[in-house]
Amino acid sequence: MADSELRQRKAKADDSKDKESKKLRTRTQEDDDAGSFRLDVLRVLTFLFLASCGLSYVISSGESFFWGMKNKPNYMKPDWWKAKFSGPIYLTPDELSKYNGYEKGKPLYLAVNGTIFDVSNGLNMYGVGGSYHFFVGRDASRAFVSGCFKEDLTADMRGIEEMYLPIDDPEIDSMWTAAEMEEMRKKEMEEAEKRVYEGLKHWVDFFTNSPKYQKVGYLVREEGWQEKLPMPELCKANQDKRKRRIPRDQQ
Ligand code: HEM
Ligand SMILES: *[C@@H]1O[C@H](CO)[C@@H](O)[C@H](O)[C@H]1NC(C)=O
Repeated sequence: MADSELRQRKAKADDSKDKESKKLRTRTQEDDDAGSFRLDVLRVLTFLFLASCGLSYVISSGESFFWGMKNKPNYMKPDWWKAKFSGPIYLTPDELSKYNGYEKGKPLYLAVNGTIFDVSNGLNMYGVGGSYHFFVGRDASRAFVSGCFKEDLTADMRGIEEMYLPIDDPEIDSMWTAAEMEEMRKKEMEEAEKRVYEGLKHWVDFFTNSPKYQKVGYLVREEGWQEKLPMPELCKANQDKRKRRIPRDQQ
């Protein structure tokens, strides 16, 4: 009697052990299933990607694996990585002028304050026919500050701060003594130079920090290149914007 009870209990214990191991088995099986499902998804996605590349290649008759996307993601461009890891390039203004979009296969470069940026990702704006095409292939720092996109396509910044200086008017200016006037002019000039610097810095920072563009190098010029050029004039639009000083009694 005690013996058979014992046997029965043992059998029950075995039974529950069996169930447990069954549960265990199915759980690992579920894990396997989930793993192979993920692998299947990966396989399908890989297949679709490769098939898409292949189809694009065939349809574009060997021209493109990515449906001829003009703006491929940066990480798919060998040139992007090359520029990132190779040192800076150095170009003369003449060499830089070749990167203006007219030579097929060459990237679009522009320079601001002597630093060259690859702006190929801004094809709509900087490419041939783009609204800001005039900025590529050159350093047009002066135009970045002045906004005069016809007259100021040069890096020659001489006299540009004038756009922020008041125009002299003998009648108004006579309200100050000569010494006061000198002091005031000094302050005005400092303020104007600061605004020019900030204006240029805005664009240097813009291109440096833009995820679309990347710094590729520097413009090289002969020493004293500006002195060989005529002194640039303030563009008419900015000349016309200049105001007289506010009379002393109205300040
Ligand atoms: C000092 C004056 C200005 C400078 C230096 C300047 C410069 C620029 C630059 C470099 C870009 C390209 C930005 C990029 O690469 O993403 C741009 C874009 C743009 N600018 Fe100006 N800009 C000036 C004034 C103006 C003014 C007054 C207007 C409006 C009337 C204007 C309208 C635009 C528009 C609409 C875009 C976008 C263009 C596009 O997406 O195709 N800009 N500007
Ligand atoms: C422009 O470049 C010169 C040196 O080449 C530098 O001293 C100056 O700070 C730069 N200006 C801006 C606005 O980055």
